Amino acid sequence: MRKKIVAGNWKMNKTYDEGLELAREVNEYLRYKEGAEGVTVILGTPFIHLAKVAHNITEANLSVAAQDCSAEKGGAYTGEISAAMIASTGAKHVIIGHSERRAYHGETNALLAGKVNRALENDLGIIFCAGEVLAEREAGNHFEVVERQLAEGVFHVTAAGFSRVVIAYEPVWAIGTGKTATPDQAQEMHAFIRSVVAKQYGDVAAADTTILYGGSCSPANAGELFSRPDVDGGLIGGASLKAADFFEIIKARAKR
Ligand code: PGA
Repeated sequence: MRKKIVAGNWKMNKTYDEGLELAREVNEYLRYKEGAEGVTVILGTPFIHLAKVAHNITEANLSVAAQDCSAEKGGAYTGEISAAMIASTGAKHVIIGHSERRAYHGETNALLAGKVNRALENDLGIIFCAGEVLAEREAGNHFEVVERQLAEGVFHVTAAGFSRVVIAYEPVWAIGTGKTATPDQAQEMHAFIRSVVAKQYGDVAAADTTILYGGSCSPANAGELFSRPDVDGGLIGGASLKAADFFEIIKARAKR
């Protein structure tokens, strides 16, 4: 089902105690404050926080995501974390294909397809990231790039599998740069993504697909981005690390 989602991606930030405190604040906010009506909130924490945060949270509209999983099932892969291990912590989702994983860890679409399979085998929801770099946008190739990332990374799954996938459009030039896509640029790409989902899985599945925007989303621009018909929510990096900013973005999503 298409949902209004605000997901935080903490990346490699927060010590254990700092992370538990931030998760506690978010949980308390959702428990006591008005302003989150109809919004599903996800915390993409480092691996070390997953089990404790998943155990501590009490609110039905709050859940936890890992930021990556291995494409392997298990075994001699030092330092890796499997989808089965993530699921065993109580985390409900995993972010796959973030541009930082693609850029700094050489993750290819083919590798990501394997991660997607492992996640689905373990009943995890997936936040699948796609987005072009600046040179690709300037060359006018951004639609083609995003379509290929989706086609090769995630469109091999069945319709039932795809119903567990949320797509995050994250233009790489907007991530951590303070340079957000304009609401028009986001809407244009989100509508395009919905059209390629429709080609693959049909109009009903496309209408049910949740598509998030990510890239310098902040309290200042969230409201306008979320007012666009195909922007269902956000994947929030920097602004998810400060509780007050994260709450403002949740509020902006609830209002629309
Ligand atoms: P940002 O990161 O909000 O800090 O730009 C978003 C992301 O990478 O998911």
